[in-house]
Amino acid sequence: MNGKVNAGSPNPELNPELDTDRNSESVFEEDRIVAAQSQADEDGIVSLRPSLLSEYVGQVKVKENLSLFMEAARNRNDSLDHVLLAGPPGLGKTTLAHIIAQEMGTQLHSITGPNIEKKGDLAAVLTNLQPGDVLFIDEIHRLQKTIEEVLYSAMEDYKLDLIIGQGPAAKTIRIDLPKFTLVGATTRTGLLSSPLRDRFGVQLRLDFYPTEELEQIVNRSASILGISVIENGANEIARRSRGTPRIANRLLKRVRDFADVRRGKNLIDREIANAALALFEVDDRGLDYMDRKLLLSIIEKFDGGPVGIDTLSSALGEERETIEDVYEPYLIQEGFLQRTPRGRMASRIAFEHLGKSYQESVRQLPLIEIPKGLG
Ligand SMILES: Nc1ncnc2c1ncn2[C@@H]1O[C@H](COP(=O)(O)OP(=O)(O)O)[C@@H](O)[C@H]1O
Ligand SMILES: [Mg+2]
Repeated sequence: MNGKVNAGSPNPELNPELDTDRNSESVFEEDRIVAAQSQADEDGIVSLRPSLLSEYVGQVKVKENLSLFMEAARNRNDSLDHVLLAGPPGLGKTTLAHIIAQEMGTQLHSITGPNIEKKGDLAAVLTNLQPGDVLFIDEIHRLQKTIEEVLYSAMEDYKLDLIIGQGPAAKTIRIDLPKFTLVGATTRTGLLSSPLRDRFGVQLRLDFYPTEELEQIVNRSASILGISVIENGANEIARRSRGTPRIANRLLKRVRDFADVRRGKNLIDREIANAALALFEVDDRGLDYMDRKLLLSIIEKFDGGPVGIDTLSSALGEERETIEDVYEPYLIQEGFLQRTPRGRMASRIAFEHLGKSYQESVRQLPLIEIPKGLG
């Protein structure tokens, strides 16, 4: 195993090699076998990314919309309208951006919001585009405001205003850009400023995948990688993948490693998948060490909540944004966590899942003001 060992990891020997562009994230997220963010060993030499819409599993509504708009654009010999893709990490946003370029028969140019430091960087990318090209901006909600403003006229009028020279001699020149398609990816649409959001003609939301679809993805990936998965082995992996294709693919590869090393055969059945996932500390609901730590912290330190997100963030030593974008969406969807106006609360399901006793009567007691002198 070529994993990098980090102190504090729940299972250090299993850590996939780390991405260089993920350095800003916390140790915990990097170490998670169920981390939804991409990691360096993601696709390896063999790509698991579907390259056509027809190979893209699930997300039926999103696919229907996209194929309609793409066909309309192709029939008009026009470029596709700007597309905004929103959803938690690992659900297939980058994959869709590649598919759009492929299906429109154009080039994809890919940049990441926080990596663009100067207006000039964005101008250079924009002036390099050919008609119909797709410009993919990942994490578009993290663009600097001044850089974001460059996009307004580029998206709306296909114009770029450049300032040449400095001081009183400076002048603005307006450059025509080819008609291009901007595909933006973000974890939450609400993070975008409204002037930017309003300039996307097509706005699509990706949801967590049901187990059956993840099972299809596991089977597809297994056949690409030459792994035999039998007797509900794929179902076991799918069930524990937090609704996320990236995690399903990663678990498949790690279970394959386990089968190779411990059983000496390249064959995954339910029993092997179970044994491997138990070793990786991924439980039968797909929750890992960090998910359980978050829920346990609310239950044990904050009496089940409600606890404010900033308090929770410092208790866990995790950035607020990571908690909101990476951990919470799945925990909320599965009913482990509730977001209330007064803060986060662990639900009955969370208490029961973690073997803690849940006392309804205590939780529902109204706050009683104690008269002065009696307190
Ligand atoms: N609908 C899908 N069908 C098959 N594989 C998928 C699908 N969505 C995502 N994947 C797989 O999951 C991985 C992560 O997808 P990606 O597009 O990078 O997610 P995101 O950009 O939303 O974080 C991809 O490498 C791809 O192999
Ligand atoms: Mg991505």
